[in-house]
Amino acid sequence: MGDQPLGNADITEASGKAAGAEASRGIGFPRIYDLLMWILTRGREQQYREELLDLAGVAPGHCVLDIGCGTGTQAIATYRRAQPGGSVVGIDVSENMLTTARRKVHRAGVDIAFHHADAARLPFDDGRFNLVTITTVMHMIPPSRRRLCLSEASRVLRCGGRLLLIDYAGNLETRSHWSAKHGRHGRFDLYSLSEPLSDEGLDELDGGPLRWLSLHFLRATKRRTFAEPLSDSP
Ligand SMILES: C[S@@+](CC[C@H](N)C(=O)[O-])C[C@H]1O[C@@H](n2cnc3c(N)ncnc32)[C@H](O)[C@@H]1O
Repeated sequence: MGDQPLGNADITEASGKAAGAEASRGIGFPRIYDLLMWILTRGREQQYREELLDLAGVAPGHCVLDIGCGTGTQAIATYRRAQPGGSVVGIDVSENMLTTARRKVHRAGVDIAFHHADAARLPFDDGRFNLVTITTVMHMIPPSRRRLCLSEASRVLRCGGRLLLIDYAGNLETRSHWSAKHGRHGRFDLYSLSEPLSDEGLDELDGGPLRWLSLHFLRATKRRTFAEPLSDSP
């Protein structure tokens, strides 16, 4: 099963080791976060989520990992799109966000496993997923750990599997939405990850602006090697 993590000891170790001085502690206010998303998307968050799924190419049967899953809204939408036969796993460093995500999943009557783990140390075997999504998370990760996160995302992807990154990008002047300009959002440029992605074995890069919150996407495919079997591409 692609959605099985390693043992509990590994999960604890993953969270613990990653929680060094530089590691992010994530977001601790799930209710405010959800309210903010509702306000920022003007009540059309579901539409925003569906458009991300279109970009990711989620289809029935896909085995998906959502890194920095937050309160689980994206994971639930992904799960529905991946049926029949698909599975979704979410990880986050914030227990508060995960508690809300688990509550939402219970209410929605869907089957998604959430794990407390750091994007820089994923508690999964190599090549478990055919799609990995990282939506509005990388700007929160300290620059020195970003490459590690990409390396981990690449490691858990099957050959031919896809990575979708959503985040803030481009010059500040080109960012029309106020939320893309301030603090960490304003300092981050998603396209600075293009080269590291390629170094981590992710090719066929494409990217561009979304019509939401001045966000952009970057999409890449895990390079096939002679040693590894082909996966069903997402
Ligand atoms: C802006 S929220 C986005 C949540 C979700 N992906 C979404 O689209 O709504 C960023 C999330 O990333 C989590 N996060 C930050 N650093 C992380 C890390 N190093 N590893 C895993 N999750 C992290 C935060 O706790 C938070 O839930």
